[in-house]
Amino acid sequence: MIATPSTTPHTGQDYLQKNPTGTETRSPNQSLLPLTANINSRDNLEIGGCDLKTLVEQFGSPLYILDEITLRTACRQYRDFFQTYYQGESQVIYASKAWSSLAVVAVIATEDLGFDVVSGGELHTTQKALTQMGYSNQEIAQKIYFHGNNKSVAELKQAIEIGCTIIVDNWVELQTIPQLAQNLSQQTIPILIRLTPGIECHTHDYIRTGHLDSKFGFDPNQIEAVFSYIAEQKSLDCRGLHAHIGSQIFERQPHQDLAGVLVEWLKIGQEYGLTLPVLNIGGGLGIRYTEEDDPPSIEEWVKAVSEAVMKACQRCGVPLPKLIAEPGRSLIGSACVTAYTVGSQKEIPELRTYIAVDGGMSDNPRPITYQSAYSVVLGNKMSAQINQTVTIAGKHCESGDILIKDAQLPQTHPGDILVIMGTGAYNYSMASNYNRLPRPAAVLVNNGEANLILRRETYDDLIRQDCLPQKLLS
Ligand code: LLP
Repeated sequence: MIATPSTTPHTGQDYLQKNPTGTETRSPNQSLLPLTANINSRDNLEIGGCDLKTLVEQFGSPLYILDEITLRTACRQYRDFFQTYYQGESQVIYASKAWSSLAVVAVIATEDLGFDVVSGGELHTTQKALTQMGYSNQEIAQKIYFHGNNKSVAELKQAIEIGCTIIVDNWVELQTIPQLAQNLSQQTIPILIRLTPGIECHTHDYIRTGHLDSKFGFDPNQIEAVFSYIAEQKSLDCRGLHAHIGSQIFERQPHQDLAGVLVEWLKIGQEYGLTLPVLNIGGGLGIRYTEEDDPPSIEEWVKAVSEAVMKACQRCGVPLPKLIAEPGRSLIGSACVTAYTVGSQKEIPELRTYIAVDGGMSDNPRPITYQSAYSVVLGNKMSAQINQTVTIAGKHCESGDILIKDAQLPQTHPGDILVIMGTGAYNYSMASNYNRLPRPAAVLVNNGEANLILRRETYDDLIRQDCLPQKLLS
């Protein structure tokens, strides 16, 4: 599939990439707005058949609006394209660090994906959602993979009790698990080994993980020592290998190179008598945040990865492993927008116009953390002519709290609704209460219906964990 060519938008309407073949065939990660985006007769943006201005009136502002169809489409595309292009077994697991909540888990589980969790909290959230949905303990165990470079003993016990696969990151963990297995009277613990492949990719330094100088995973120089240790441990059921090279990646070559390296390592493992039937290639496919971004489609990425693994297996004489991919951003990023209400405005002649909204770095810390770029539309005047370049500022007491520098917008007024796109991944999950701003609500929209999936925090929620010792009261 080819990305829609970018043109400079003149109105909000230009952001809606009309596609006569319907939502199912478009790759969500290449779309700025969710696939169901539409403009209604009031000139308002609609998502999932819901008018965003009305949603803000009903649920408050700022508001995360998650489009169920876009999320499900991305899940299905990953799953179906692996079935099309990979000749062995495959499993897609959602990197829940992108957005972990009960409803998100529920939607993704019904698309038959598994889950990558990285903390006791994400594990708990996923397990709770799956249990409430009626999954058996065995099904839950098979769906979850537990990551982390410093899992606590309590977290490891939690994972062992659930029975999920633990992705072992380092020697401390590798040596702790057999002891815990013995204490908890568990026969065998399913594990994967995470390695640092030393593959460079072009993304922000903080979100690169596969280069050699990384806190994650075993150094490949240790691989033989790791394999011979595992071969001695009866309680470790080592199923295979894992690597993740980074996030928001637009090139296909790094994952193709990774496939080659991992398959060679599988072969070494087999020389140690380990069967290693699983290969987990990580996540990392990027999404379009701005007109200039041009990520490969989900189909193109899956095809490239599948072919690279099959080719490497043929070259090395290794049977096709079960291939796991663990995308986060490209599953949920483009499915969500954040609606804000415009408040104050400050014009500095010949320099800059600031338009302030009622959220900022607390609901979306990505611009201040990674200088991430976003796109915006005026959600309540979609056909108004874009005629100004402005800076969209948050409301936090911090000069760097800028959501978009040099945004292209029509004239705006206090009370207007600004809609920032592509906020499904690493926004709510990284949100904070900085300046004691309550975190926004989130709604799941589909077919004209909006369901609350996260309640807006109240001021009382903000002080719920505060303690006021008696001695301070007198
Ligand atoms: N697997 C592992 C082991 C990971 O560490 C990650 C992301 C993923 C999968 C999912 O990667 P994705 O498909 O979402 O690119 N907070 C940063 C992103 C950090 C990503 C961390 N690891 C951001 O907002 O850009």
